[in-house]
Amino acid sequence: MILDAQGIEMSYGALKVLHGVSLQAEEGRTLAIIGPNGAGKTTLFKVLTGERLPSAGTVRFRGEDVTTLPAFRRARLGFGRTFQVARIFSELDLMANVVIPIEARIRAGGGSAGPRWRWTPMPEVRAEAEGILERLGFARSRWEDEAQFLSHGDRKRLEFCVALATRPGILMLDEPTAGMSPSDRREMTRFLARLKTETGITIVMTEHDMDLIFELADTLMVLNYGEVIAAGEPSQVRDDPLVKKVYLGHGAQHA
Ligand SMILES: Nc1ncnc2c1ncn2[C@@H]1O[C@H](COP(=O)(O)OP(=O)(O)OP(=O)(O)O)[C@@H](O)[C@H]1O
Ligand SMILES: [Mg+2]
Repeated sequence: MILDAQGIEMSYGALKVLHGVSLQAEEGRTLAIIGPNGAGKTTLFKVLTGERLPSAGTVRFRGEDVTTLPAFRRARLGFGRTFQVARIFSELDLMANVVIPIEARIRAGGGSAGPRWRWTPMPEVRAEAEGILERLGFARSRWEDEAQFLSHGDRKRLEFCVALATRPGILMLDEPTAGMSPSDRREMTRFLARLKTETGITIVMTEHDMDLIFELADTLMVLNYGEVIAAGEPSQVRDDPLVKKVYLGHGAQHA
């Protein structure tokens, strides 16, 4: 089990959002967490990635208790993540946005990524960044564009590049296709499917897009009002009467 959370509770002031949530992510598999708006998916993500401390429960990563470890230290252990709203350096170009986390990863591992004041990355860093940008479908002609002028879908894709640059052991994706056009969604789904088979990376994701969920998820967990109401094989979960009632009923055409 690469990620194992047990009995997670979490409140915002008086509002209790997670009521003893447990989940397990298996190495090389994709776990999707679904549930209605406000169910607590993003909050659970924050607890798993170290942005928020739970009021009860434990989070283990590769057997190590990381419950109180801050996000940046979890990132060093191998947590890669994207956010529901993309976080990138808007004033920098695409290449720099990818080069920076590659250099950070190399330095964190005790390696040399060249002098910090130098604006030209080392050739191997540049080559890795080019590979990532190409993989995500950014044409060479766009590598010098400032990130702030990207479309919403492209921002999300760039954020993905940033996450991959850290060579994560686990990818935590909070709604990777939020706000995307249908064609961008399909492209992202294809990309994730390829990433899964090519790299065997473990993915934990939330999504509202059911097509994407059923294409990618090996395990599906349904959260409703901060409680797990079903978990297991996607096809079984889909047919669970309670799940149909509280969640999939809204998107019956996908169910
Ligand atoms: N920073 C915060 N302060 C107070 N309440 C919050 C905060 N963030 C979220 N909440 C509340 O906690 C509950 C769970 O929110 P959360 O964002 O985790 O849900 P979600 O499942 O990710 O929803 P969505 O599908 O809309 O992204 C909601 O009732 C929300 O209003
Ligand atoms: Mg959310």
